[in-house]
Amino acid sequence: MGSKRLGVLIGGSGLIGGTIVNYYKTQHSETVDIRAPSSKKLSIREENDIRRVNNEVRPDFVINAAMANLGSDGQLAFEVNYQGPINLARAANSLKIPYIHISSAATLPSGENLKEDDTLPITPHLSNYAKSKLMAETTLRLMAEKEGLDFSCVRLAIVYGAHDHKIQGFHRLFFSIADESMPVLFTKKNTLHSYTNARKLPHFINHMLENRAEFNNKTFHFVDKNPVDLATLILTIKSYLHLNQPKEIYVPYWMANGGKKMLDIMLRIFRRVGLKATLPPELMFMDSFYKPQTLSTERLEKSSFIDPYPEETIFTRLPELVIYYLTRWSHENLISTYNEDMAIDKSAEHNFLHNPQVLLDQSHAKGIGPFNNMQQK
Ligand SMILES: NC(=O)c1ccc[n+]([C@@H]2O[C@H](COP(=O)([O-])OP(=O)(O)OC[C@H]3O[C@@H](n4cnc5c(N)ncnc54)[C@H](OP(=O)(O)O)[C@@H]3O)[C@@H](O)[C@H]2O)c1
Repeated sequence: MGSKRLGVLIGGSGLIGGTIVNYYKTQHSETVDIRAPSSKKLSIREENDIRRVNNEVRPDFVINAAMANLGSDGQLAFEVNYQGPINLARAANSLKIPYIHISSAATLPSGENLKEDDTLPITPHLSNYAKSKLMAETTLRLMAEKEGLDFSCVRLAIVYGAHDHKIQGFHRLFFSIADESMPVLFTKKNTLHSYTNARKLPHFINHMLENRAEFNNKTFHFVDKNPVDLATLILTIKSYLHLNQPKEIYVPYWMANGGKKMLDIMLRIFRRVGLKATLPPELMFMDSFYKPQTLSTERLEKSSFIDPYPEETIFTRLPELVIYYLTRWSHENLISTYNEDMAIDKSAEHNFLHNPQVLLDQSHAKGIGPFNNMQQK
């Protein structure tokens, strides 16, 4: 018991933080004790909270998976996404322990096969989220160079996984399809994006913690090897849900963007008369639906990390995630379109991807002759 390593994780109620806590509690409970104070107990906006908890706990490592909500104003984004991580890193450096920082592909431009060093320049017009995330990465690198901070940065792309209580990112897109609020496709053909499997991430974090010499002061893209075409993903989800929409009609960017601008103007008018009105989260990222963003996995592949589930992709995880989220959202009365008794045939998709011969054998056994109850002309 006495030899257990102690870790402090910030953001434990979130999608990423919750997955990491769950991993340590279920897979390393004998060797690692993970503490995940709530944001009420430790707000990373408060330097004193950071000092107090680290002094009390004296952890062996710190992981930061906190973020301010995407629509946060500049002050909050700065405090939670920049100042907090820097103060956490300062505390970790005082204790001479590793600091693991979770960052985002929002720090990168659009484009394909983007390397870890291809970051956007820090400019005023960036979104609050991207700017604060980029600033944090910049200062952390400087702290490693000048102050000897032992840190690693992991950049995630679009994350898929269970327990996204806030329904953000990919799960927001999925929600819009399930809720039938996406009548047509707001993307163009062959728009590829990288995706991050939340379930694999804790394995990588643990591996980095166990191999500090290799991973210290390095940033890694942590995404699935093969990028995914957005329209294919949307249409696959639609077919799982047995829905009629979105129709396979591609709305051109100029039209989608024009609609978004008009909505933005209307919302501004609403706000002037005192109504609380903000752009729906799915529209905030509309630009990225039309632009590819794929992250290079070369550095990750060259590292000593071994993918624990090499066969797993967003498509193989979909059946499980569809059932998980639809059950949850219908219980919370967020959607009414889901019939829990609806049988979602999971075997066909899985076999089609991994074992097509099984599907062929099944089909042949069922019969491939003419339908005997159909009349000849
Ligand atoms: N989800 C994605 O698609 C995605 C994509 C790329 C990168 N990332 C990165 O992954 C990390 C985690 O994201 P997520 O999706 O897990 O976010 P999330 O589900 O929104 O969770 C955010 C977490 O941060 C905590 N938090 C917020 N303000 C805090 C504060 N002042 N002090 C302490 N904790 C605070 C929240 O706690 P409360 O709920 O108590 O406020 C919550 O636990 C972030 O670094 C994000 O940039 C996520």
